[in-house]
Amino acid sequence: MKIFLNKAIPQVGMKILNDSNNEIIIPAKENISDVEFLKYCKNADVILNVGGNKLDKEFFDNCPNLKAISLFSVGYNSVDIAEATKRKIPVGNTPDVLSRATSDIAFLLMQSVSRLASHNFQKVKDGNWGSFDPMENLGQELYGKTLGVFGLGRIGFEMAKKCKAAFDMEIIYHNRSRNEEVEKELGAKYVSFEELVKNSDVLSIHANFEAKDSNLFNAEIFAKMKPNLIFINTARGGFQNEKDLYKALKNGTIWGAGLDVTNPEPMEKSNSLLQLSNVCVLPHIGSATIEARNGMAKIAAENAVSFTKGEKMKTCVNPEVYI
Ligand code: DGY
Repeated sequence: MKIFLNKAIPQVGMKILNDSNNEIIIPAKENISDVEFLKYCKNADVILNVGGNKLDKEFFDNCPNLKAISLFSVGYNSVDIAEATKRKIPVGNTPDVLSRATSDIAFLLMQSVSRLASHNFQKVKDGNWGSFDPMENLGQELYGKTLGVFGLGRIGFEMAKKCKAAFDMEIIYHNRSRNEEVEKELGAKYVSFEELVKNSDVLSIHANFEAKDSNLFNAEIFAKMKPNLIFINTARGGFQNEKDLYKALKNGTIWGAGLDVTNPEPMEKSNSLLQLSNVCVLPHIGSATIEARNGMAKIAAENAVSFTKGEKMKTCVNPEVYI
């Protein structure tokens, strides 16, 4: 079969693909246009997709030959899963292997914002060290504070464990369903969305993004938060309304924000959030460790190859296609 990859992946995954009995197609240049992407996909049986290309109904209509999708990500919001399922196209993703790395970035952002670290680093780089001042550069401590986790799956659990171990934080969470393991292990408390918003000192988003969640964190929600709230998002930028977030940060409605994902991506250099001292933004690097990316490459390659051998993908977001 023909497997199309829009970008090369770490060697461990390339080896699995190259050792398989398939034709592996990779564009010669690193970044291809949407038109070129579609052209390659039209000729492929399987695509291994790196990044957030929209794989929607129109895309599927244009690629009638396509039989399987293997995503190089745990998130699958770029794919119309219902449409894929209707066409019996399995969609693989890469869970677990990036949970630690992504939660590390959430934890790092929380600390960076609570102690204004990236802002102060920028000051040093700008030759603006300043002088010791008892009232300047004051952060807030996290000991004993409340972490609110929105979407407590594998990544949220890792974040909660770190916050409990490092700062003895209370854990509250809101999720589609109760997570008894985390309640038992960390004494976490399940709360309504309203309670999560109202009672968190740090609110960290770890949910899978769906269209209905677009701009969920907006002016109305920020207004209900504590003034010392640190807003962390390492999931998908679509959750936040950035104009409202800017106003909430500028007016002191909330205390700070750490974002690894923005709305849209990439964030424009002119985005006013970047002017604020209480904001730290990273360019979607949650899973960017050697260990996590090797793990993702292995799973994504195995998912693609197992389809070509007539086997089920090990990690499939729409397993009902196999029934
Ligand atoms: C994921 O795996 O979903 C990461 O956010 C990269 O897209």
